[in-house]
Amino acid sequence: MSKNIEKELLKNNIIGKELFTSEDIKNKIFELGKQITVDYKYRDLLVVSILRGGVIFLSDLIKEIDLPLSIDFMSISSYGFNGASTGVVRITKDLDESIEGRDVLIVEDIIDTGLTISYLLRNLKSRYPRSIDICTLLNRDIRRIADIDIKYAGFRIGEKYIVGYGLDYKQKFRNLKSIYELKLDTVKKDIESLKNSSSI
Ligand code: PRP
Repeated sequence: MSKNIEKELLKNNIIGKELFTSEDIKNKIFELGKQITVDYKYRDLLVVSILRGGVIFLSDLIKEIDLPLSIDFMSISSYGFNGASTGVVRITKDLDESIEGRDVLIVEDIIDTGLTISYLLRNLKSRYPRSIDICTLLNRDIRRIADIDIKYAGFRIGEKYIVGYGLDYKQKFRNLKSIYELKLDTVKKDIESLKNSSSI
């Protein structure tokens, strides 16, 4: 069942098609959790989330993993260009725990070019984890630049602008229960109004 905010955004044509319902997401997370439970039995599982978008997925995913585990967080700032990732990343909040000898699972909401995760993998591998793998809810492999191996991927998506379930547009819409297409017109209008209000 949609929330009032989702109904309002749909009515005002800000968001469009519901690409993955909260039920689709719930079912996918159940499957992923079941597989991770099998794969990580008798291991020292540390689930790492990259702030901010991945947090909503992490919180639902760990509830479906039937094993002892720990969680930790990293925050990064990407130097993007016109909204695109460049892979140049600065860690603004590092992990609190040591990962040496542990089985690290990085949980992301979306992997797009793969540049961010590829930087993080290089960084974390130098800290001697026993294993390090990736779980992403959304896999946009059509835009992939870095060659990365994703062990667990939820849904494959195309080029569309999407929001909801952790994914934002200018920090909004993360709290929508489903994943929606963001209406491109809205994005364009917003960019136009920014240009018009610019003093440059
Ligand atoms: C998203 C996502 C990944 C990154 C993927 O984060 O959570 O970290 O982009 O893009 P890439 O594969 O092209 O490098 P974003 O920068 O939007 O920050 P957020 O998590 O705060 O939304």
